[in-house]
Formats: sequence, C-alpha cells, structure tokens
Amino acid sequence: MKPPVEIISSAAIAARVEDLGRDIDKRLPPGPMTVVGVLRGAFIFMADLVRAVPRPMTCDFLAVRSYGDATVSSGVVEITRDISTPIAGRHVLLVEDIVDTGLTLKYLVDLLGARGPASLHTCALLSKPSRRRIEVPVDFIGFEVPDEFVVGYGLDAGQLYRNLPYIGVITG
Ligand code: IMP
Ligand code: MG
Repeated sequence: MKPPVEIISSAAIAARVEDLGRDIDKRLPPGPMTVVGVLRGAFIFMADLVRAVPRPMTCDFLAVRSYGDATVSSGVVEITRDISTPIAGRHVLLVEDIVDTGLTLKYLVDLLGARGPASLHTCALLSKPSRRRIEVPVDFIGFEVPDEFVVGYGLDAGQLYRNLPYIGVITG
C-alpha cells in the first residue's frame, strides 16, 4: 500500500491553524465560548485549533453518521453522540474536518442554531467548493482543496490514515 501523496504539509497546516486561531479570536464577540467538534474527523484539527485561540472556552463534541452509502452524502445525518452541555447564550464555534456537499454542516448548523446560542460560527479545516450542493456559511476555512478524496490530520478513508501528520491524496 503506497502512502498518500502529500498535498498540504504539516508545517503549512500548523501555520494556517495559528492564523485561524487569531482570526477566530478577533471575529467572535467577547463572552462565554464553546467549541464543538464533529467526531471523529475534527479531533486532531480541533486539538490544535483551540490552543491557538487565546481566550477562555469550553470544549464539547458530537458524533454523526450519515445514513446510506458512505461515500455519497445523503444529507440525512444521525447524531450518534450529542454534546453534553447546554449552548444557550454561548458563542459557539462548530468545528468540522471538511465541508464537501455541505449537507452535514447545514444539518448541524440548523440543529445547534435552534438551541439558542448567542452566536454560531463554523470552521472547517478543508473545503471542496466545487462539490457544494447546499449553501451553508463556513466562516473560517483552512484550505480549499480540489475534488479529490483527501486523508490525514484526522480525515480517514475506511477509518485509516487519521494519524497522518499531513493532508494527502490516495493514489491506489
Ligand atoms: P458533506 O455532508 O458532503 O459536506 O460531507 C461531510 C463529511 O464527509 C465530512 O465531515 C467527512 O467526514 C466526509 N468527507 C467528505 N469528503 C471527504 C474527503 O475527501 N476525505 C475524507 N472524508 C471526507
Ligand atoms: Mg466528518
């Protein structure tokens, strides 16, 4: 099995995450903040991102599973683990690994938005704009990537490659 071909180095990711952290701190209103990560893909990105945001915050996680074919997003998302703290009145940052069709993020924005947060922003390490099927605001984006299946830095293919320190493409 050949290792994935690197398209974004770990150094480039680290530099971009620092920028995102500063940007998030500047643009989110002051006040109580909760960062919500979408498991499992966002766990590595979120671990680095929160350390780049220099303000008090709480962290929580939810886990989702798409119904149906695993490679084609249906937009019907099942919450397999919900956050364990209320977000009403808090400034919420939802952290995703990648926005592809946008269906998952849209579902989660509607879900969390209905719980009365003081504000709700979204951050994704990666975005594939050419694949978008629904309009959803992504307030903070690490990198735009072409329409290829990417792995590493938390992102998987069949649960593998999450531990790669860089973002790569599988070449078969
Ligand atoms: P969406 O609902 O189509 O935007 O899909 C979002 C989810 O699909 C992401 O959170 C990922 O888990 C998964 N996904 C989409 N594209 C990729 C990819 O290139 N590599 C790994 N996972 C992906
Ligand atoms: Mg995901």
